[in-house]
Amino acid sequence: MSNCSSKVIVALDYLDGESALVLVDELEPSLCRLKVGKELFTREGPPIVSDLIRRGFDVFLDLKFHDIPNTVVKAIAAVADMGVWMTNVHTSGGRRMMEAAREEIDRKGSKIILIGVTILTSIDQSVLCEIGMQKNLIDQVRNLSALAEISGLDGVVCSALEGPILRKERKDGFVLVTPGIRLSNSPRDDQQRVVTPIDAIENGSDFIVIGRPVTQSATPAATLRDIVRSIV
Ligand code: C5P
Repeated sequence: MSNCSSKVIVALDYLDGESALVLVDELEPSLCRLKVGKELFTREGPPIVSDLIRRGFDVFLDLKFHDIPNTVVKAIAAVADMGVWMTNVHTSGGRRMMEAAREEIDRKGSKIILIGVTILTSIDQSVLCEIGMQKNLIDQVRNLSALAEISGLDGVVCSALEGPILRKERKDGFVLVTPGIRLSNSPRDDQQRVVTPIDAIENGSDFIVIGRPVTQSATPAATLRDIVRSIV
């Protein structure tokens, strides 16, 4: 792991590694951490992750595993072997799945941070109802976060809108990772539960995940530096 203390995780959501590295070439590992998600990983696989680690960056491998416990355990073992800093599973995979992932990480003596996705930031109450979950969205995030903690996860992915309540309810040190970050002048895109960088930090986020406001900017590295400066 690096000595990075930045609370900013840049989502490297690019079509291929070459495009991602154009931005990465302009960044230092002390400025931010990097997230590799399904888009880039499906195209480039483990070599892009190794490359970023070799360059000194902390990498969050965001594959959001959601499967039977045995399958998730095997996938988590492979991720831990890659030497990434953080990874995740879906909390809706249930307690047994999350506990099994935790046990595998501990068995391997890995220090990887394991977090659980609660309700995606692209989902609002109407979408939740559409998929048959009648419960209030905030209560569902609270329930899934409690389940993640009981199951031994290090924290959750949620919207920064839920930060204050989770900070109060969850144990000290429970990690809150919040995507759905938008600058006051940036489009929401497909995100629903959005918060500005500074409000997210004030709401208790440990790490903010930011993609398109940086990657679609005409000057991505400069935009990122402004964001980092705005939250210190
Ligand atoms: O471009 P944008 O800032 O919306 O990117 C957000 C990133 O965070 C994407 O890579 C997305 O997959 C990820 N993410 C999310 N909501 C979650 C978990 C991850 O938006 N709950």
